[in-house]
Amino acid sequence: MTDLLHAAVNGGELTRADMIRLLELNDPAQEELLFQAAYQVKLRYVGPVVRLRGLIEISNLCVKNCFYCGIRRDNHRMHRFRMSEAEILEAARFAATAGYGSVVLQSGERADAENTEFIERMVRRIKEISNGRLGITLSLGEQTPETYQRWFVAGAHRYLLRIESSNPGLYAKMHPADHSFVRRVACLKSLRDCGYQVGTGVMCGLPGQTAADLADDIRFFRDLDVDMIGMGPYIPQADTPMGRAFKAFEPAVQLHWGLRMIAVTRLVLRDVNIASTTALQALAPDGRERGLLAGANVIMPNIGDVSHRKDYLLYDNKPGTDENATESRERLEQAITGIGERIGYDEWGDSPHFHHRTGGSR
Ligand code: 5AD
Ligand code: SF4
Repeated sequence: MTDLLHAAVNGGELTRADMIRLLELNDPAQEELLFQAAYQVKLRYVGPVVRLRGLIEISNLCVKNCFYCGIRRDNHRMHRFRMSEAEILEAARFAATAGYGSVVLQSGERADAENTEFIERMVRRIKEISNGRLGITLSLGEQTPETYQRWFVAGAHRYLLRIESSNPGLYAKMHPADHSFVRRVACLKSLRDCGYQVGTGVMCGLPGQTAADLADDIRFFRDLDVDMIGMGPYIPQADTPMGRAFKAFEPAVQLHWGLRMIAVTRLVLRDVNIASTTALQALAPDGRERGLLAGANVIMPNIGDVSHRKDYLLYDNKPGTDENATESRERLEQAITGIGERIGYDEWGDSPHFHHRTGGSR
């Protein structure tokens, strides 16, 4: 184990079998060695700097019906909301003033023309009010290449679209029959062709998922040559089909799948941005810091209005629903300095991988 990690830290390639072995570790001392190795690689490739993205959850309307997700179309217990233009711009102003450097606009999926235009206008307006300084990432699901292109031209430069699982069989079990794995992969390619920095990711600890599946997820990320990774443990949501069927929920087990997955992904992909997601924090109060210590380098604090947070419940016990953006900024700063890292203020914080693969030098 020590030799394997030593080799990985010093540039050695992990085989699929190595990845599986590391993902399956359950001895705490050995797991800790894995996290330390991933941390070394993070320091070398991206440094002890946390990149912040102000997350604006602009709407929980969704045309999709994913079996795991609390805002799925058929969850009629969910109160639906859409932020107004003024609310979105206010959140963006907060991000600019707080030095966050970039924002993420996230929502359930919609493909109607009204929404496409609304997003295009929001991207342009955010660019205007920040004099072009705020970077804009979109996370708005599957769209046509034309829509992706329009939003890119308007000024968005990064896009997150999780593959959820790179195993088509597992993907099919988590989604209704009209959701297509092939279409999702095609979307990722089309985003890339538009010129976006592309992020993807998966959920880990899913029912029926093995360490081999997760190793293949990491190989999928590598083969697609993605710039950013956002992934987190699956957490049951009581009003969803998967949440109702999932009886064996153990927060610590899910948390550790999430942390090991971050660590092995860092060892393999090295120079990408990896988010320490809210799902980790939902499982342990210090989950996000532990994600950073296992190799993640991005945090996406929620900066939308608190009044909508209780309606963006992808899973149960989602944290931060009662804390405003200023409070969460203060807590976050303490947490980050507490582990000896600093925040990269007022920077877009692009993935070094993107600039390596395109030869740029921001
Ligand atoms: N647990 C964890 N993550 C979830 N997501 C949706 N539902 C859940 C859940 N129950 C994640 C998916 C999706 C993102 C918006 O949130 O990965 O891509
Ligand atoms: Fe909609 Fe995304 Fe939730 Fe699926 S995971 S139901 S697409 S918000």
